[in-house]
Parts: sequence; C-alpha cells; structure tokens
Amino acid sequence: MELNTARLILRSFREDDVDRMAQLFGNPNFMRFSLGVFTERKQTVAFIEKVIGWDRTGIPSQFAVVPKAEDAVIGYCGFYHHAELPGEVEIGYRLHPDYWNRGLITEAARAVRDHAFADLKLPRVISLIHAENIPSRRVAEKNGMKVEKEIMFRGFPTLVYAISREEWLVNRDAS
Ligand SMILES: CC(C)(COP(=O)(O)OP(=O)(O)OC[C@H]1O[C@@H](n2cnc3c(N)ncnc32)[C@H](O)[C@@H]1OP(=O)(O)O)[C@@H](O)C(=O)NCCC(=O)NCCS
Repeated sequence: MELNTARLILRSFREDDVDRMAQLFGNPNFMRFSLGVFTERKQTVAFIEKVIGWDRTGIPSQFAVVPKAEDAVIGYCGFYHHAELPGEVEIGYRLHPDYWNRGLITEAARAVRDHAFADLKLPRVISLIHAENIPSRRVAEKNGMKVEKEIMFRGFPTLVYAISREEWLVNRDAS
C-alpha cells in the first residue's frame, strides 16, 4: 500500500525497517509527548509487527514516511486503533526533528485523511493530542480537525480532535 504526496511517499512498513525505526524511537525529540524513548529493540519489533499485522488483516495501518528526494524513512503517519476507544480510528504521526516545520506532516496527514474518507469510507477520524503539543495541534487544525472534547488517556489529559466524513465532504466540495 502506498500513498503519494508532492514531496513524500507513504508506504506500508516492512520487516527491514526495524533498524531505522529503532533509531527514531530512541530519539527523545521524535518521542516528544509519548511515554518515553524505546530503550529495547524488542519494542520497535513489536511496533513493526503490530502495523504489518494490521496491513495483512486489512485493518487501516501506519505508513512509513519517505521523502521522494531521499531513500530513508524519516517518520510515520497513519492509522492507530486503541482498545480504550473502540470504534475510533486515530491519525497519528512522528517525524525526525531535522525535518520539522516544513509542512511535511501536514502534507502526509492530509493524504492519510483523504485516504480514510475517499478510499476506506471511514465515518470519522480523530487525533489524540496533549494540550501543550502546539505543533501537533496545528497539524490537526490544518488537517481540518476541531477539538471535540478532553479525555483522560493513558493517565494524561488529552484533546480529542475529530473530523467526520460529512465535514470532509462539505469542505472538499467548497474548495
Ligand atoms: C508534530 C510533528 C509531527 C509535526 O511535524 P511537522 O512536519 O513539523 O509539522 P508541519 O510543519 O506540517 O506543521 C507544524 C506547525 O506547528 C507550528 N509550530 C511548530 N513549533 C511551534 C511553536 N513552538 N509554537 C507555535 N507553533 C509552532 C509550525 O509553525 C507549523 O504551523 P504553521 O504551518 O501554521 O506555521 C513533529 O513536531 C513531531 O514529530 N513532534 C514530536 C512527536 C509528536 O509530538 N507527535 C504527535 C503526537 S500527538
């Protein structure tokens, strides 16, 4: 599975992404607003196995973010599923700090959102964001999402940003 944007290829993860992803998951900036860096390789292996498993069973999954100009994974952007939030599909993302503030994840997240509504026909998608995570909140806003509510998620107050398929259709037809 692959999505294309102006500057990026978003592709399904592969087993041979473990080394690169272990580097990224070990980077404290890449892991800002998470439970912490991965200190053991098996944590990265578990991530890769989880997202490849979703791909194999036809569940919307994460994409590796690869700039068209480079042959390297610089982050991820795609779908998450949480046992605590049954029925919800999250768009989540992380990017290597060298690439921040160039609009890259906005570009990726919009492609993922369009894929959710145009191809997968999902009724809605959400993003779960800590209130102090200003860059991520901006990405969600630029992705057409609005704050719906604040919940406690894994022990932290968390904003639920959401966009429905109906809202996406209206905005798409208006633009
Ligand atoms: C969140 C993240 C993926 C954004 O990636 P990115 O490619 O830099 O995002 P974009 O460039 O598309 O957009 C970032 C926006 O935040 C804004 N921003 C960044 N730092 C900011 C700051 N300190 N104050 C105000 N705005 C800020 C940028 O100006 C930009 O908004 P604009 O287009 O209105 O100018 C990246 O910062 C990251 O990986 N962070 C660590 C992991 C993380 O927090 N993931 C999300 C968990 S919910």
